[in-house]
Amino acid sequence: MKIELENNKVFFENEGLKKEVHPFWLRERINGESFVDKATRQRLFDPTELEKNIQINSLKLSSKYLEITFNDGVHTKLAIQDILKELSNINDVKYIKKIKWDSSLKKLNYFKYKDNFFEDEEMYKALINFYEYGFVIFRNIPTKNNFIVNFANSIGSIRRTNFGEFFNVKSKPNPNDLAYTSLPLAPHTDNPYRNPVPCIQILHCIENEVNGGLSTLVDGFTVTEKLKKEFYDYFKILTEVKVRFQFIDQSVVLEDWSEMIQLDEQGEFKQVRFSPRLDFVPLMDKEKLDLYYSARKKISEFYNSDNYRIEFKLQPGDLLMMDNHRLLHGRTTYDANEGNRFLQGCYIDYDSTEGKLKHLKRKFNL
Ligand code: OGA
Ligand code: ZN
Repeated sequence: MKIELENNKVFFENEGLKKEVHPFWLRERINGESFVDKATRQRLFDPTELEKNIQINSLKLSSKYLEITFNDGVHTKLAIQDILKELSNINDVKYIKKIKWDSSLKKLNYFKYKDNFFEDEEMYKALINFYEYGFVIFRNIPTKNNFIVNFANSIGSIRRTNFGEFFNVKSKPNPNDLAYTSLPLAPHTDNPYRNPVPCIQILHCIENEVNGGLSTLVDGFTVTEKLKKEFYDYFKILTEVKVRFQFIDQSVVLEDWSEMIQLDEQGEFKQVRFSPRLDFVPLMDKEKLDLYYSARKKISEFYNSDNYRIEFKLQPGDLLMMDNHRLLHGRTTYDANEGNRFLQGCYIDYDSTEGKLKHLKRKFNL
């Protein structure tokens, strides 16, 4: 990708394709102290107040800078690197390639907590790992004083819900969710009834004295791709039918409608929702419901199959951070008489991980 000049016009060339850069686009990006506030990087002028037909009077290109004088008398020097960065989107987490995985994934990457961890290059590596695999495990995270809140707020901001700022996962009397029992939890995504669904779940192990209670994960992206390839009709109907997910307790009724497999504008994988205790399909034609039920059964078979699930035991101090739009998680059953099993959980959203990742990338020039 490169910048070229021709007759007082700026062009960018990418893989043989040459396109003119709109003069207004460049005019909006002028820098210098009187145009952009140094500390906040926010504009000190309002581009909507400029004349629309801004023209370029003169141009100069060197290896590092593009110097422009506009017909309203403004002169600026733009760094070529900044322009190319913006044109190539390389800064976008969307371009971190997802690594599909199944039960053959044996080696899990652990990232060890240390002083100044949240500002360390190791955190950058952990976040890349998170975007590649949809999860990451941290070790040696302090287990006292609800440190999970500190952890979440050091990456970004905790996402509070009606379960509180964070929640304690242990078996307790009169539970309002099956998570608070010693029953097994089949692979599921959390809170599909919320709008928006929490992006990322954090589970921090405080105590784990039982033999069972293994943590399980399934890559919803891998399963979706498999379904698309081998059972296209099932894939299609699950991307089309909006299902009602609900949560009801004494103080709140939460409901949202969405597809079990949600695609983005390009038709690519965006999000899965799966919680077969909470989903209610609308009444549709019998044939269509027939297909829907077969599709749900098939995807459930995949999600629950040994081929896709990994199982591991969280040790006290381990903290699992997973993408709740991509992965399913669960646990095996345990016997509460064997000892304590105590996890703390909370949610954060993508702006937290994305903001931190970009900050560290900038800081370490990565
Ligand atoms: C949850 C959950 C898993 C576990 O609380 O959402 O799925 O390991 N817990 O107890
Ligand atoms: Zn859960």
